[in-house]
Amino acid sequence: MTFTAPIQLPGLALDTQWYKRAVFYEVMVRSFYDSNADGSGDFAGLISKLDYLQWLGIDALWIPPFYNSPLRDGGYDVADFSSVLPEFGTLDEFKELVTKAHERNMRIVIDYPLNHTSDQHEWFQQSRQDPEGPYGDFYVWSDTDEKYPNIRIIFVDTEDSNWAFDPVRRQYYFHRFFSHQPDLNFENPAVREATLNVVRHWMDLGVDGIRLDAIPYLFESEEGNGEGEPKTHEFLKEIRAMVDRDYPGRVLIAEANQWPSEVVEFFGTEDEPECHMAFDFPVMPRIFYALRSQNASELVRVLSETHEVPSAAAWGVFLRNHDELTLEMVSEEYRQAMYGWYAYDPRMRSNVGIRRRLAPLLDNSRAELELAHALLFSLEGSPFLYYGDEIGMGDNIWLPDRDASRTPMQWTPDRNAGFSSADPGKLYLPVVQSLAYNYTSINVEAQLAQSRSLLNWVRNVIHVRKGHPTFGLGTLRVLETNHESVLAFVREYPGSSTQFGDSAETVLCVFSFAHSPVSARIDLTGFEGATAFDLFGGAEFPAVGADGTLSLTLGTQGFYWLHLGDAPRA
Ligand code: GLC
Ligand code: CA
Repeated sequence: MTFTAPIQLPGLALDTQWYKRAVFYEVMVRSFYDSNADGSGDFAGLISKLDYLQWLGIDALWIPPFYNSPLRDGGYDVADFSSVLPEFGTLDEFKELVTKAHERNMRIVIDYPLNHTSDQHEWFQQSRQDPEGPYGDFYVWSDTDEKYPNIRIIFVDTEDSNWAFDPVRRQYYFHRFFSHQPDLNFENPAVREATLNVVRHWMDLGVDGIRLDAIPYLFESEEGNGEGEPKTHEFLKEIRAMVDRDYPGRVLIAEANQWPSEVVEFFGTEDEPECHMAFDFPVMPRIFYALRSQNASELVRVLSETHEVPSAAAWGVFLRNHDELTLEMVSEEYRQAMYGWYAYDPRMRSNVGIRRRLAPLLDNSRAELELAHALLFSLEGSPFLYYGDEIGMGDNIWLPDRDASRTPMQWTPDRNAGFSSADPGKLYLPVVQSLAYNYTSINVEAQLAQSRSLLNWVRNVIHVRKGHPTFGLGTLRVLETNHESVLAFVREYPGSSTQFGDSAETVLCVFSFAHSPVSARIDLTGFEGATAFDLFGGAEFPAVGADGTLSLTLGTQGFYWLHLGDAPRA
């Protein structure tokens, strides 16, 4: 497969707010491409697929943990934060990945689970053996398992307490996640210093950003619930100050699975910023809710909420990732409805969520896949794709836990889906062979050969998005409509006088979640007489009426992206 270079955005390399217009792609090293036939993906494999990602229009990769690890939590159980897992390659190969990505104007964001380590980490081994030694106070030890009663359990499927007894030290240690992942003790200044050193280590190697895994959980307190405690925010401000001072242009991304008013706190304030970006956990499940309920009102509600955030802040919008589709941020009633629609087999559930991939969730409906992606690429914030979703890959719910959607990338209809030439039994996980999503039909090669494939469609949307800076830089304002199935908003960007010379633009985005065609009237007060042009084909639509309304007819689960104003540039 050969890929020709796509259009480059001029001057991206100098843009300190690059992350606002970037399209991100989450790719696990283990899952993408195996270069040496040992059954596991590796850095050399990922490097060899950069041309594909560049062709697709990806600006930045988010790479989940690749450090030394016993891999009992997909690598989020780190045994050494400064080295790489030998089966993925060497540190030199990691550096080569950074260089090769940068050559393509693509950025590398790594993932840092700073809240905890694996119990195999040297720090924990020393801590349990020598309470008086230098690492004695690196973890949260207690003589009882009764401290912090307000702190909820996250992995409810596997854990029944946040405390585990260590037979060596004969004390309990605190863990927010698996019991083999002891939480670090951030009250200890040496732990905070060690954390800053890890950040420096990887930034010195040239990474462009760090996803701060499980960031709300750093500090715990007797009164609080251990989520976003004031001291956690204080420490984040310290990390950010160091990054701004020593590594300007690099970004911090918060993984905070919380309610909107709590997530925004991880951006900090204009004067004391914390993270540049935060994943939009509240919006994601509401997209899935709207698709089945045919009702957009919950989406309208969360998108209409306004929160003060620093001017450099940006949301990370996503449909799926390497974890379960979490339903923590919806009400019990909505959660039950979503389990009914999307996880009718109990095997599809995991913790408080659903462990399935995008295409199976949407029943492989092309209309729904297009609608969901059109939202992903036009909401306020930067889109994050999950590897394989661009070809509509399936999952394997017979695999344990979240491995269901971490199977090898499907490149070709050949052995192991072209992911590896190892003996099929040797793969880290089997390739998907289900009826509907069998790798012999769902793969990159086959979709490249079809001009109307999902892959080509997704690539086209990405490129249309990139041609309109308002998607990355503009504001979002929800509009009133007279139809409960319809979501409409305008993205407005006044243009900029920076060296990028982006021109002002207003784009009207309209989505119908109805399962049959509808007609809707949209309130566009202030845009009386403006003409609408389709961003994809350029076709002229009726102008906004003198009464400030626009009536549109939408096909089943249809959407429009319309430029409002004069005819767009060719
Ligand atoms: C984050 C990761 C998840 C991991 C957990 C514990 O939520 O996304 O995969 O299991 O942290 O590290
Ligand atoms: Ca390999």
